[in-house]
Amino acid sequence: MSQSTSMASLSESIKAEIRSGRWGSFLNAGSPADRAEAQRIALKESRLGIPLLFGRDVIHGYHTIFPIPLGQAASWDPELIEQAARTAAIEASTEGIRWAFAPMIDIARDPRWGRIAESPGEDPYIASVAGVAVVRGFQGASLANPSSVAASIKHFAGYGAAEAGRDYASTWIPEVLLRDVYLRPFQACVEAGAATVMTAFSALNGVPATGNPFLLRQILRSEWKYDGMVVSDYTAVKELVPHGYASDDADAARLAFRAGVDMEMVSTTYYDHLKSLIASGQVPLAEVDDAVRNILRLKYRLGLFDQPIPAPAHSAVTPESRALAQRLATESAVLLKNDGNLLPLAETVGSVAVIGPLADSPVDQMGTWVMDARPEDVRTPFAALRQMLGDARVLYAPGLKNSRDTDPSGFEAAVNVARRADVVLLFLGEEQILSGEARSRAFLDLPGAQAALAAEIAGAGKPVVAIIQAGRPLTFHQTASQVRAVLWSFHPGTMGGPAIADLLFGRAVPSGKLTVTFPRTVGQVPIYYAHLSTGRPASLSELGIPMGNPTNPTGYTSKYIDVDFTPVYPFGYGLSYTEFTYSNLRLSNSALTQDGALIVSADVSNGGQRAAAEVVQLYVHPVAASVVQPVRLLKGFRRVSLKPGETQTVRFTLRAADLSFHNQQMQLVAEPGRYQVWIAPDSVRGLESEFILR
Ligand code: NOJ
Repeated sequence: MSQSTSMASLSESIKAEIRSGRWGSFLNAGSPADRAEAQRIALKESRLGIPLLFGRDVIHGYHTIFPIPLGQAASWDPELIEQAARTAAIEASTEGIRWAFAPMIDIARDPRWGRIAESPGEDPYIASVAGVAVVRGFQGASLANPSSVAASIKHFAGYGAAEAGRDYASTWIPEVLLRDVYLRPFQACVEAGAATVMTAFSALNGVPATGNPFLLRQILRSEWKYDGMVVSDYTAVKELVPHGYASDDADAARLAFRAGVDMEMVSTTYYDHLKSLIASGQVPLAEVDDAVRNILRLKYRLGLFDQPIPAPAHSAVTPESRALAQRLATESAVLLKNDGNLLPLAETVGSVAVIGPLADSPVDQMGTWVMDARPEDVRTPFAALRQMLGDARVLYAPGLKNSRDTDPSGFEAAVNVARRADVVLLFLGEEQILSGEARSRAFLDLPGAQAALAAEIAGAGKPVVAIIQAGRPLTFHQTASQVRAVLWSFHPGTMGGPAIADLLFGRAVPSGKLTVTFPRTVGQVPIYYAHLSTGRPASLSELGIPMGNPTNPTGYTSKYIDVDFTPVYPFGYGLSYTEFTYSNLRLSNSALTQDGALIVSADVSNGGQRAAAEVVQLYVHPVAASVVQPVRLLKGFRRVSLKPGETQTVRFTLRAADLSFHNQQMQLVAEPGRYQVWIAPDSVRGLESEFILR
């Protein structure tokens, strides 16, 4: 049956249900032993011997926790992201899990939305690359390999555009935006072979995604020729009733099923009503056959029919998985500020003060969705710094109990510790429970009394480095202005501590770059780099209140009168401990034909004293188009490693297809005309040139 149900433990009644063939898959359920026994019963004792499928939220690791997906994307390192997903697949499959509810590839342009932590960020290109890397890592060379897990690309579609960043809220997405932004990562992952698709909770343009034939039948099945399996999100079929789309549960089952949802997750409207819906002719049997085929095909592809009954087994964090987690945490961290090159610190420093509620909090540094991780496996920054410098040189006072704490009674001890040290490492951010599903925030400040703690610490007169672990961009700019350096580490996972310690002391060089724009204030949201221009674009020379008179107006441009219109840290931004210079932008031709290729290249030099990696970005913009296009749109990137003094030529190949977008007739077209092109260190700077598409 097309039902995914949870199971706390394998009771006699569940065993009886499996024997009777009434159970097809389990969600987030049981122990390895329970799963092995349930599978044995399904294969050996049920009438048809159809294997069960065990799915789980393996989002950014299983036992070994990697940075949250928003952090992983900031590494711009698809190979490493793929290896992390492979590691998670091996750990999970060893314990009987063959289906992971990831990657989440919802484009997220609103940091109020708590699930931005699970997303690769705001851009369809990087989201496609990161999503495909996870699909490849999970599914390996063959799904039938027992260490492969089926990916579930989610949430189809538009969920990240929840109104006002409020989880589960409606989304209104014009079709061009849907196709050019929100659907692109899904299509890329479908092309990469993603085995399953999970529908979104949200309504898209008034039609809930879980009962949306336009999304599921027209786009997914008909246009993309998808032959994988579609599962609803958790109780999303039944939720068609409170949505106001279905009149009752039976109606919900009918609408979701007919829209193309093969399997219902957790709620039981299919189980309860499909039989009578078929009998009354409201659901055609042929569609039931299709859904069953989609589910069985997945089980065949996973090799579940052919593989021996698994023996219960356990996996664990290993030295290799730790090394990988540390590398990804290191590459994910983004250096946002480094006044006077305070960082890296010298390991000969006398003593450091470690302050803040996130310095030694294993659970919090793992971030959202870590159901299979153990806090005792986590290495915190405090532990890592003591290991690096010795206990005596690391003074510690958390100042606050957790990130929400508003009690200033710990401030005095923290200030005293700051005064005694040569440098202060201030660990701020959001604790685990503040980001992820249903964790929308209306304010993006540092929670609790952290800003006040930071101000007190800054007053102690020592150089301060803020290290921020969070699930979303925050507006922490007053604090940023009071400290010399800011290292943004997202929730970095199991090995976040050693990664941060290495970065602070120069054993590693920061190379992460943001895949989401950081606003100055929540009032600027949504703010993202790939916005459209207006007829009155803002300019830095015309800020503030519009002046002049009707015949000579100044400042009537698209901006705010009370805050700069620019973000505080743009998409693609991140500092290093070295200086990179970009020069010599060149194009292989001044024109590109519809079937030709254009090589765009530039020289990137490391002018500093340290070997370091730089994420070089390629952006384009058509000067005029039949549907106005973003002021810049990412079309490629390279992560290059450069020795001190080294110069490398970085090349990109552009084809007409890379420039395509949906026109007013919803045709994917590459329109002839002039295009601007940039090779850039981030989305606002870079070398610019132009070419013609013929
Ligand atoms: C709800 C979430 O939206 C989804 O992402 C997750 O996979 C399911 N719950 C299962 O836990």
